[in-house]
Amino acid sequence: MSVDIKLPEGQKENFVNGIYRCADDANYSESFGFQWNKFQRTQIDQFEKGLVQSRLRLFAETAWKPSELANLNILEVGSGAGRFTRALLESTESNVYSVDSSTAVNANLANNSRFGSRLKIFQASIYDLPFAPEQFDKVICIGVLQHTPDFKKSVACLAAMLKKNGELVIDFYPVTGWWTKIHAKYILRPITRRMSHARLLAIIEANAGWLIKTYFFFERIGLGRILNRFLPICDIKNTLPEGLSYEELKEWVVLDTFDMFSPRYDQPQKPEVVRKWAEESGLEASFCGYVPLEKGSAAVVRAIKK
Ligand SMILES: C[S@@+](CC[C@H](N)C(=O)[O-])C[C@H]1O[C@@H](n2cnc3c(N)ncnc32)[C@H](O)[C@@H]1O
Repeated sequence: MSVDIKLPEGQKENFVNGIYRCADDANYSESFGFQWNKFQRTQIDQFEKGLVQSRLRLFAETAWKPSELANLNILEVGSGAGRFTRALLESTESNVYSVDSSTAVNANLANNSRFGSRLKIFQASIYDLPFAPEQFDKVICIGVLQHTPDFKKSVACLAAMLKKNGELVIDFYPVTGWWTKIHAKYILRPITRRMSHARLLAIIEANAGWLIKTYFFFERIGLGRILNRFLPICDIKNTLPEGLSYEELKEWVVLDTFDMFSPRYDQPQKPEVVRKWAEESGLEASFCGYVPLEKGSAAVVRAIKK
């Protein structure tokens, strides 16, 4: 069964260059449009390692079996350059409706257009999704919710899209304790998120070399856990795949570090609180906690529409 698309009034003709355009380019998620179009392939197919990592993460977090998704309608919100879009389309026979509010949709189309009519891409906000309610078998939202202005409302908007017995799977940055925000990211973000994207990227590129060296030095002398959180660089050890060449690692580090410092919002949450919000949105949680990944772990909530 196909999904009933509800474009905003007067927007029938807004199917532009292969994408349903239901949001303006200028919105709070602009930094992501800049980022994903600059680094369109970094986590997708430039390095095979990225693709494998995305596939493992997707199926670990969802606990889905690819063969059970044939012909299902899956909504993905906040798809970025489409690494999970690709993992879904490649590993399953599902239909994927992929939404992002930024111009990252262009990168997703460039990366995944070969999947033809099984993929439909929408530039739209989670708060104004262009679909009639209760049409999707599954909804995923990976790495997004902490970057939205109202986390609880975002969960409710996703829940509204699910059919009865449909399943929502979300991951997000967790609050792990009082120390979560004692971190270079949260100390510097009040400045960095206001900088022009080009300037911030140039600063990160210029400093990535010595930051990577210092990061690995702290790891070697056994002080990485304590000191690396004060270095303005992404968490290499717990997020990047193994086996990248130095140049590949540096490109990935620049992307992930930009992704730390540029977003307008970064609001980690306690998993139990997110679970409560899912339940207040009419879902029943089937899992709330940490899923071990190839590297590190992810805070995940899975919930079913009753
Ligand atoms: C950190 S990126 C994650 C992208 C992708 N899920 C991944 O992990 O590679 C977050 C994405 O969420 C999108 N986003 C943020 N707020 C959104 C909103 N209100 N509606 C739809 N997408 C949103 C951003 O544009 C961005 O592409």
